[in-house]
Amino acid sequence: MRKQIRKIGILTSGGDASGMNAAIRAAVRYAIYKKIEVYGYYEGFKGLIANNYKVLTNNSVGGIIDRGGTVLFTARSEEFKTKEGLLKAKNNLKENSIDALVVIGGDGSFRGARDLSEFGVNVVGIPATIDNDIYGTDLSLGFDTALNVIIDLVSKIRDTASSHERIFVVEVMGRNSGELAIKSGLACGSDYVLIPGIKFDLAKISSEIKNHRIGKRHTLLMVAEGAAKAEEVASSIKLLVDHEVRFSVLGHIQRGGSPTAVDRLIAAQFAKKAIDFIISGGTNAMVAIQKNKIEVVDFNEVFSKNKIIDKSLYDYAHILAL
Ligand code: F6P
Repeated sequence: MRKQIRKIGILTSGGDASGMNAAIRAAVRYAIYKKIEVYGYYEGFKGLIANNYKVLTNNSVGGIIDRGGTVLFTARSEEFKTKEGLLKAKNNLKENSIDALVVIGGDGSFRGARDLSEFGVNVVGIPATIDNDIYGTDLSLGFDTALNVIIDLVSKIRDTASSHERIFVVEVMGRNSGELAIKSGLACGSDYVLIPGIKFDLAKISSEIKNHRIGKRHTLLMVAEGAAKAEEVASSIKLLVDHEVRFSVLGHIQRGGSPTAVDRLIAAQFAKKAIDFIISGGTNAMVAIQKNKIEVVDFNEVFSKNKIIDKSLYDYAHILAL
């Protein structure tokens, strides 16, 4: 017989992403509506090991839907990667009579959740990372907000770039993924996008800039942090083009800010699907959005492949820049 779910835990783990709070709010309120009590663990898996939690109520998650970051705080826990850490977490959950755990985070956090499930804990993941690099979901929370932050910042950079007729190299986050760079490059009308996994030739780019860019007031290169350092790209181009070049590393600004409508709406839908999945007895999977439908994807499937960059978007961004 299926075990009745009376109490769940929820935590946020890894790099914070805008929309995490909206997901916490929706998960807590929907769970309470389904007569389930919710414990919020602080600082991700670290809080699970330290048994640092607070009982979350409808009121305690009020006023957070529009806030970036995470009210449950987050951390990258090394102890959780050990057997002792996992055992402590499992025992704490057992002592607190937690029937299942909702983990809001990225790929690394889901691997932690999967490891915990091997100790008999029911787990479900809600994808949240600005990198949007999780296989199995078209979007993860925080990506759309980060994209919008980048677009806003780059339009400011273009103002000054064209005023001074400068070449600008802008470095965006994404760890090993080029998702933020390609999509922001396309959305900002950048001339070049440098991403991991696709070779680039700075000599060729520089000669194009030199020979074919006469009359252009600005030239913009979007660089994914996993592909190159903006500073190095800028100094190489400067040497080859002999024109004013500046660089800007957008950094953690990309992770902050109030979530966009897209992130708030997916957060609400992910949370409902995650709670329903747990109630149905499901475990060891993440909720996802695929072709506009909210789905559940088994962790084994999630970890079986790497998310592939849409090369046609990369090519198209360069066609439009011609
Ligand atoms: O995974 C999200 C992310 O922002 C990456 O894009 C970036 O490489 C990394 O986290 C930065 O990590 P930290 O906040 O620990 O410096």
